[in-house]
Amino acid sequence: MKVTDTSDLWWKNAVIYSLDIETYDDSNADGVGDLGGLARRIDYLAELGITCLWLMPFYPSPDRDDGYDIKDFYGVDDRLGNHGQLVEVIRTAHDRGIRVIADLIVNHTSDQHPWFKSARRSVDSPYRDFYVWRDTEPPDTSHQVVFPDQEDSIWELDERTEQWYLHHFYKHQPDLNVANPKVRDELMRVIGFWIELGIDGFRVDAVPFFLDDVETQEAEGLAGNPHDLLRRIRAFLGRRKGSAMMLGEVNVTHKKQLAYFGGDHGGQLDMMFDFVTMQATYLAMARGDARPLARALAGRPQIHPACQWATFLRNHDELTLDKLSDAEREEVFAAFGPQEEMQIYGRGLKRRLPPMLQGDPRRIRMSYSLLFSLPGTPTLYYGEEIGMGEDLALEGRMAVRTPMQWTAGKNGGFSAAPPSKLMAQPVPGGYAPEHVNVADQQEDPDSLWTHVHSLITAYRRCPEIGWGEARIIEQPHHGVLAHRCDLDDSALLAVHNLAAEPVTLQLPVEGSDSSSVAEDVLGREPVALTGGGVELTLEGYGFRWLRVHQSRGALMA
Ligand code: NOJ
Repeated sequence: MKVTDTSDLWWKNAVIYSLDIETYDDSNADGVGDLGGLARRIDYLAELGITCLWLMPFYPSPDRDDGYDIKDFYGVDDRLGNHGQLVEVIRTAHDRGIRVIADLIVNHTSDQHPWFKSARRSVDSPYRDFYVWRDTEPPDTSHQVVFPDQEDSIWELDERTEQWYLHHFYKHQPDLNVANPKVRDELMRVIGFWIELGIDGFRVDAVPFFLDDVETQEAEGLAGNPHDLLRRIRAFLGRRKGSAMMLGEVNVTHKKQLAYFGGDHGGQLDMMFDFVTMQATYLAMARGDARPLARALAGRPQIHPACQWATFLRNHDELTLDKLSDAEREEVFAAFGPQEEMQIYGRGLKRRLPPMLQGDPRRIRMSYSLLFSLPGTPTLYYGEEIGMGEDLALEGRMAVRTPMQWTAGKNGGFSAAPPSKLMAQPVPGGYAPEHVNVADQQEDPDSLWTHVHSLITAYRRCPEIGWGEARIIEQPHHGVLAHRCDLDDSALLAVHNLAAEPVTLQLPVEGSDSSSVAEDVLGREPVALTGGGVELTLEGYGFRWLRVHQSRGALMA
């Protein structure tokens, strides 16, 4: 592989950072974060070292699902700013070497979208078939609802027309009928519109749900293979912008994910979040035993070389543990969220990582070291770089959607508005802005910010992680994950101790000779390679990243 290849498939080793504009920085003191605020933080993001900014929904919305309920696919919510300011953000980000992707939500609209308002007025509405209707009483679908605290069916009776419409999520989010060619045309138009404005790709919301609608219709002979739709969207995107990328939210088993990449041939989603590995990471951390994580990584299917896994520890939703067995989930609950108020939907946690790890800096640092060294493209959720906490008093997933903490000052530097006007308060208590904020941590060489910054730098220096061939290195210590990523004649070896006890281990380093040393990518002393391997001592929750030049066994500069 040539280094120049990395620019075409830029997502293979990007560093993605997601944020919600309304909680990031408020430039006009109205208590709501906005595009003007984000624009002035682009240099901050560049300094942190991220290469791709994922903007959570900024479209006009009644905001009953934090913007994932859209009433105009082409708009910018006026609380956040306007198209002109969005273009300024995109342009400024591009100037600093940061690509910008947007949430693409095509599974559903808000019930306030003009299409749905028209559709529900009459069965003869031209928009009726933009949604999925049934005219017989639906069976019990309570096991299929995504938000069991709010919904008990995925069908809702529309009183006026006496038919039921489909909604996989909240009842105020009717599912679009993507089997309808007119809806597909609209969808392509929406993609084309944002691409023309400079967007570099999309985080595609709820992919299995909207493909499932196609499957339902297919059974009735109304649509083709649902994956054809994904392939067509991808092809269209590629025609409009060759470098654009689609990152899908597809929380299914690894085996099933392969189909969404387009199998061996690729050509559908370029990236997918690795929900399975994320959940296994928490199980492994809860147990102090790396084997669940090693198993998850080994269970990843081989994917097309242009495709990639997006690794993450947290996002804006609940920390879902739905892929664990009931007993495993209970273990994670017991370790990281034993109280009911910390749990959500019976399947997840509404907490951020540092409080779950009781603020233990060794474990927090080790977790982020894992995130950046696992094969794939790391994705950060805003505030992770400083170790923000959650506010459990807030409803559901809002607990982790509090304002970014810039300074120790008023409103954490998020807004100059009176505190009573803020759209959300900064978290109280030990994780409040006076204890956790960007300004203090940027000055402190021992802070989490500085640690995350050096991990980002190290990750960007090691294309082996995103591009290489990854494998687990067998060794006898259950608490330790040792893996290596090989790219051409260089390899990155990463070793993480998930347990509290220190450990000394011998690690075989294939391809090395006995006279060389391994570079420590995180800036510690190089390690001698003797007898075809290294001996390492790791503290409890310790970690090392070593780089070896395989064929010559030499230090790689
Ligand atoms: C997934 C998003 O991540 C979540 O926040 C949202 O509620 C649902 N999709 C519905 O759009």
